Amino acid sequence: MSDLNNIALKILSNGKGILAADESTGTMTKRLEAVNVESTPENRLLFRETLFSSESMKKCIGGVILYDETIKQKSSSKKTIPELISSSGAVPGIKVDTGAKVLAGSPDEKITEGLDGLRERLHVYYKLGARFTKWRGVYIVSDKHPSKLSINSNAHALARYSSLVQENGMVPIVEPEVLMDGDHSAEDCLNKTSEVIKKCFEELVHHKVNLEGIILKPNMILPGTKSNKKIKNEEVAKLTLKCLKESVPKEVPGIAFLSGGQKEIEATENLNLINKFNDTNFIMSYSYGRALQQSAIKFWSKDIRNIKGTQEIFNHRANMCSLAAQGKWSEELEDK
Ligand code: 13P
Repeated sequence: MSDLNNIALKILSNGKGILAADESTGTMTKRLEAVNVESTPENRLLFRETLFSSESMKKCIGGVILYDETIKQKSSSKKTIPELISSSGAVPGIKVDTGAKVLAGSPDEKITEGLDGLRERLHVYYKLGARFTKWRGVYIVSDKHPSKLSINSNAHALARYSSLVQENGMVPIVEPEVLMDGDHSAEDCLNKTSEVIKKCFEELVHHKVNLEGIILKPNMILPGTKSNKKIKNEEVAKLTLKCLKESVPKEVPGIAFLSGGQKEIEATENLNLINKFNDTNFIMSYSYGRALQQSAIKFWSKDIRNIKGTQEIFNHRANMCSLAAQGKWSEELEDK
């Protein structure tokens, strides 16, 4: 097995998943201001370090995605943040795209940027301790979207990114996110997500990416947030599995879902059902941002010095997600 495959398995095996703590400063400022905490580098570090030094890191978190600011910060114990993460057995990762910008030629859509100078930035991140990376492409859904232009250009960027990342000894997370915004049905989400993922793999193969050394980070198959055709969680799980079975090559070792705006328990329950019904060889785990941090940040904001209390909230959420990644979660466990 290749080194890259070993890193991917280390991140996702035994009920472990990924903590996506790579919010850009702009996004993190929104999250902090929503709970009335000032967004300073110190406060951003304090919240993140609180999570990274919690007990559940050892059992539930196989990898942490960092933002450029955080990977260069030092923890209160003087360890660098990547050292702190590694000391609990998790792998440090880094978001390397520079954001989604308006797609020329289709101004309602976005193309993710960050390829210029990427090889040089990857050298730096590797030296800082990163062993995996993230790049997110975003796609909107309507009767005309995502356009072929958006599907092709984002797939091309994801493939160029992945091949550079592997060249530098790191595992690329390939994240094509079909957004939940809109009134589309789950069936529309299924069709569009399948088309998007298939095109990504076509480009990854074209760019000679080793598929055993990537992690796919897709959305689950859900109706749009404004759709009046809601579906049961069992159906979400079945449609998600159908989509992935039909569009992901079997060499891919693991799939780590984004939460994409789902509530914490909803994201946990859906992942649990996916694992209950999982008849593939893919590991199905989580790479959650909001669905791991929402309750913790709310609690923390009331007293930012209450490290222990915040860690208890985070530990619970991480434990629930880890059980869901093994199909062992149930609603009663939420109250314990
Ligand atoms: P959410 O789980 O909040 O969607 O964040 C995951 C992520 O990393 C998005 O790029």
